[in-house]
Amino acid sequence: MPRPKLETDRLILQRFARRDSVTLDDAIRASLTDLNQWLPWARMDYTSGDTSAFIRDSVQAWKEDRAWDFSIRFFEDPARHVGNVSLWTVSKLGKIAEIGYWVRSDEANRGICTEAVDRLLGEAFGSMGYHKVVLRIAVGNEASDRVAEKLGFTKEGVLREELLIRGNWVDHSLWSLLDREYRALRRRSAAH
Ligand SMILES: CC(C)(COP(=O)(O)OP(=O)(O)OC[C@H]1O[C@@H](n2cnc3c(N)ncnc32)[C@H](O)[C@@H]1OP(=O)(O)O)[C@@H](O)C(=O)NCCC(=O)NCCS
Repeated sequence: MPRPKLETDRLILQRFARRDSVTLDDAIRASLTDLNQWLPWARMDYTSGDTSAFIRDSVQAWKEDRAWDFSIRFFEDPARHVGNVSLWTVSKLGKIAEIGYWVRSDEANRGICTEAVDRLLGEAFGSMGYHKVVLRIAVGNEASDRVAEKLGFTKEGVLREELLIRGNWVDHSLWSLLDREYRALRRRSAAH
């Protein structure tokens, strides 16, 4: 299990609690048009009840050591929800985890997603001992592809019709990072 509270230079990543419901809901509502394009759960008729259900499930998943969702917030404005980043196991045997994320639209392109995912990779390849972390990114989601590239992931290929989004089966690229690659990248950035 990762630590429930992680920090970067600018960000606090924290396990969800019931009290986060209102600020999470605000962030989703402010970003729904963008989220709707890529994420199956982000229907245009998304309700605050859906947010409460998400938080309930998230709390339960942490308890069961099954999946780990974090809210992303700025140190300088901790009352405002900036995005989500999540980690879960896809293969126990292969020690493979997957990461998913979104960032509110009015904070896009400030490096927030890259910074948050980088911090979570530290947990995944550190105390959690994963061998490989994957991202599944809808073909055409160039901002998300860019996040993968910036973090040093390799594109393995395309998974055909992997997810049903708004009635269309959408191909997804599979990107991956291995523990030794992550450590080499870390060493290289520390040397600079
Ligand atoms: C994808 C997403 C998480 C990125 O978050 P973010 O905090 O803006 O990401 P970052 O700022 O760390 O990096 C974004 C990069 O994409 C680039 N980018 C943004 N839009 C782009 C586009 N249309 N084409 C190419 N590059 C683009 C940015 O310039 C930036 O790269 P740079 O640092 O080299 O300039 C965010 O846009 C989002 O939540 N989108 C909707 C939901 C979603 O797609 N989730 C991911 C599902 S896999």
